[in-house]
This record gives sequence, C-alpha cells and structure tokens, in this order.
Amino acid sequence: MSEARIGVDYSELHRLDSPANRLIREAIWSRDDDIGQQSFTTRRYIDELVRRLGIGPGTEVLDVGSGTGGPAVEIAAAAGCRVTGIEVNHVGVEVGGRLARDAGLEDRVRFVEADAMAMPFADASFDVAFSLNVMNVFADKVGLFRQVLRVLRPGGVWALLSGTFDLGEGDEEVRRRLARGYLIPQYYDSLAGYKTKLLEAGFVLDEVTEYISDFRVQVKRWGDAYRTHEAAIAAEQGAENTAYHIVYFDTYLAQIDAGRASNHLIIASRPPQEPAPPGR
Ligand SMILES: C[S@@+](CC[C@H](N)C(=O)[O-])C[C@H]1O[C@@H](n2cnc3c(N)ncnc32)[C@H](O)[C@@H]1O
Repeated sequence: MSEARIGVDYSELHRLDSPANRLIREAIWSRDDDIGQQSFTTRRYIDELVRRLGIGPGTEVLDVGSGTGGPAVEIAAAAGCRVTGIEVNHVGVEVGGRLARDAGLEDRVRFVEADAMAMPFADASFDVAFSLNVMNVFADKVGLFRQVLRVLRPGGVWALLSGTFDLGEGDEEVRRRLARGYLIPQYYDSLAGYKTKLLEAGFVLDEVTEYISDFRVQVKRWGDAYRTHEAAIAAEQGAENTAYHIVYFDTYLAQIDAGRASNHLIIASRPPQEPAPPGR
C-alpha cells in the first residue's frame, strides 16, 4: 500500500453508490438495515442510543465522525432532534447532505467538514454527543474528549461506541495485521483505557454496555463481503487495499472469538455546573 493512501481517507468507501460499494453494502445489510452507516453500527445501537440518552425534539445532538451521515439522519428522523455531524472527509460530508435532503431533514441535520480534534463549535453548544466506531483514529483520546467536554453543556451526555481491545506484549503480529484497516492508523484501546481517559478529560462515567454477538456478525459480514467481491472491490479500490482489508477483518474476528476484542457503548457526562460560591 502506498504511503499516500494512509490517513483518514475514506473517500472511496464513502461513495456509497459506486459498483463495488453497492456490492459490499448489499452483502452486509438488507435494504432495510442499510441506513447509510460506514461501520459495524446497526439499527439496534441507534434505537438504544435514542432511548438511553433521552434524545427527543429540542435536543441538540453532535455526531463525532459522522461518516456518510446515515446514523445522524436516522436519529433525527426517529427522535425529532437536531443533529450536527462533524466529519473530516469531504465525500462523507457531501453524501451526508444528500441523505439529509432525501429524507427531507435538511433543516434539522447538517454536516460540518472539520477535524474533531479542533471543533469549530462554541462552548456548551450541545446537549448530547455521540460517536459510532470512530475512536480508533484518534491518537490523543484525552485531547478529543476535552474537545467534546467543551462543546457539551454542563450536564450534557457523551456516548461513544467503540471496538475495545485487550492486546498485550507479544501481540505485535496482531497489531501489524490490524494496523491499517480502512486506511486509517489504528489506535486501539481497552475498556479500562477509555474509562481512565474519560475521567482524565473531566467526564463522569455513567454506564457501560458490551455488545458482542451482533458486533461479531457485522465484522464477519464485512470480511465475507470483501472476500466474495474481492475482484470487483480490487478493480475499484485497489488490490493491495482490498487484500489488506480481508486480513484486517479476519484478524478482528479472530480476536473477538478469542475474547480479546469487543464493542462497548460507554456513556459519560460533563459534570453539572458547580453553584457559584456564596458572596460572588
Ligand atoms: C468507521 S467510520 C464511522 C462513520 C459513522 N460514525 C458511522 O457509524 O457510519 C469513521 C469516520 O471517522 C472519520 N474521521 C476520521 N478522523 C476524523 C477526525 N479527526 N475528525 C472527524 N472525523 C474523522 C472518517 O473520515 C470516517 O468517516
């Protein structure tokens, strides 16, 4: 793989209607389950997010790393809220805008092309922030969490869904095989690592849920899709990239089956504002 392709470049995968991407998507999801996600996210996670976070009409929601925008549009449609997606990839922002318009939701869903490490939003702009399968791209997770804390109002809620790994010494081969899936650097962390970093950034931990079975199904389907349609994907997205992803998904699946990789929803909140001391 040429070094130029490494980075947070999802441009090819985000062209949802390209021939190879249509094959991938049809192999993973039925028409009803394809909500324009670019991850292991399913409707189940989205429904649970809306319910657990109490998202409703009037809630200002931020989606960190919104991809092609499907989950943001789905949540806005289900809950009647306003959603802002922040996404670094230009194609993702364009496709997200189209999905919002197609759903008639362009007045409540917007996508901002920017780096989540430097969010172009005022302090305390959002009631809820969530992120679906994005955390592995951030080398500096405490820095990212501080950005989220800043743009949440006091008492606001932050929910991240992420793969979690328990890799240790001697796992260099596993790390190497996982290293560049999706053309991104993979900065995996464990559940314990996420908890520590959220606390360090100033969050209070509220709730953790582990999802294994449907996550495993999703990882397996992505791998099967790449294997089944390898030639068509390679023709469009490059042979090396395609072969690499087959290794990536196989390795991920093997780690899940060994109990060393999983998928956690971690909910934390920004502490409510301290009352001003008397006399001030
Ligand atoms: C696995 S996709 C998940 C997309 C979406 N959350 C979903 O579930 O469909 C990860 C996304 O994070 C985006 N991303 C990577 N680094 C980012 C950054 N620094 N700021 C904002 N988005 C970023 C990528 O471009 C990609 O669209």
